[in-house]
Amino acid sequence: MKTDLVFSDLASLDVELLIVAAGDAQTEKSGNPQPTLLTGHAGVTSAAAAALASGEFKAGANETLLLHAPVGLAARRLLVVGVGKSAKATPHSIRSAVGTAIRFAKPRGLRSAAFALPDSAPLPPGPTARAAVEGALLADYDPDTYRSDRKDQSVYNFTLAALAGSEAAAIELGFAEGNIIADSQNFARVLVNEPGNKLTPTILGQRALEMAKSHGLQCEVHSTDKLKELGMGSFLSVTLGSEEPPALIITTYEPEGYDASTYTGPVLGLVGKGITFDTGGISIKPSEKMELMKYDMAGSAAMLGAMAAIGKLKPKIKVISVVCSAENMPDGKAQKPGDVQTAMPFKAGEPGHTIEIINTDAEGRLVLADGLTYARQLGCTHLIDAATLTGACVVALGPVNAGGFSNDEETYEKLNSVLSISGEKIWRLPLGDEYYDQIKSDIADIKNTGGRWGGASTAAQFLQVFAGDTPWIHLDIAGMAWYEDTKPFIAKGPSGFGVRTILEWVRSYAQ
Ligand code: BES
Ligand code: MN
Ligand code: ZN
Repeated sequence: MKTDLVFSDLASLDVELLIVAAGDAQTEKSGNPQPTLLTGHAGVTSAAAAALASGEFKAGANETLLLHAPVGLAARRLLVVGVGKSAKATPHSIRSAVGTAIRFAKPRGLRSAAFALPDSAPLPPGPTARAAVEGALLADYDPDTYRSDRKDQSVYNFTLAALAGSEAAAIELGFAEGNIIADSQNFARVLVNEPGNKLTPTILGQRALEMAKSHGLQCEVHSTDKLKELGMGSFLSVTLGSEEPPALIITTYEPEGYDASTYTGPVLGLVGKGITFDTGGISIKPSEKMELMKYDMAGSAAMLGAMAAIGKLKPKIKVISVVCSAENMPDGKAQKPGDVQTAMPFKAGEPGHTIEIINTDAEGRLVLADGLTYARQLGCTHLIDAATLTGACVVALGPVNAGGFSNDEETYEKLNSVLSISGEKIWRLPLGDEYYDQIKSDIADIKNTGGRWGGASTAAQFLQVFAGDTPWIHLDIAGMAWYEDTKPFIAKGPSGFGVRTILEWVRSYAQ
């Protein structure tokens, strides 16, 4: 999909589909819906007037109304998309509305679409422009890498049409950023969609290297030898059952003019779980839905997607991403329940934490443990990790919110405050000494599972041991990384969840 921004009269846009948003302006609880366009354009308003007056369209969120040959407009069709109550409209509702329109256009073979940027309150023009172009690009994506019959169903041209005026610069910036951010999120989605046989840890490393090269980032990919050298016994333990070597992928972004000897700002560490396939290992998973465990690298895809955006948006802050990638397989050489592993020491020469393996399917925390330690060793002052870590988190929050955990209020508050920009939902869950008690081992320092109850928190508590006193956030995205249901504005399958929030969290340190 090609996108462009124009400041021109909506009536003259020569497209197959002109999209306009409408809200319900009714403020009384008992009153009938009052569908009202969010653009004041006279031609569009009169073209839609009769249909809106008919009462068949209520402007509910993502509701659509299609008109052919709208009178007085060059566009062949006019699609009105609802956003719910006008007074409550946000850039996020525009992201969904535009997405809904593009998902509407795709299967109908409509190849050019334009969206009339709302020009009425309460929508801020810059963020709304950004959300609109994000919505279009995210909706245009389908997980069709391996579908020879589906490749032509893209909307080729998407035009964002705005009024010329005082907000033009903000709209231009929003448009440019929206393109970068949605492309980065789609990059993550492409990775997550890849099956285990096509995306091994080694290939994930190659994809990261390619991305880094085209996005102005430094990138190094290491494997078994380096893991041994660093003493990453926890990460290594997960790799033992697989023929595929692991990948430790370090991607670095340095702001313009960065000088290591004078830089005093924060260094943000983005740590991702990159299990390219999770069979569970010797504690093998049931076969039902096991095919979905190709998405067990979604945390690392989110980090690489965020890095892609960071490379293009160039915030004034240093960022290091550490991706720990492996395949979790059963084999004669695989680790077994009862085995004891030694994690990477924080300081060379010091002992690393010993871990009793209770369940080889709790492998995500094992690779992240060493990833977090390594990120701290590289000088990260603040950490965020993302992982499809626990089924327990999905049970707790459903496919609605990711779980958020933190050892530091200020750091978590930064994350919370960017959710209204990213439009992603994260619900904070607890850590605490009682959860730590659940992961104490009789024969080692800790064990890798904490029993039946509070599984999302005991997993997070395990990670906190390795975050130490470095301010840290853990995102459990198990329920959010793969959409099992079709939504009106986005394909089912890989969501790219986390890219937008992690990016904004990073940018919140660069002010
Ligand atoms: N990758 C899974 C978690 C998962 C479950 C992700 C469902 C996405 C959807 C993780 O490695 C895992 O197997 N976790 C176990 C932990 C348990 C053994 C303590 C789980 O959640 O069952
Ligand atoms: Mn597992
Ligand atoms: Zn896993």
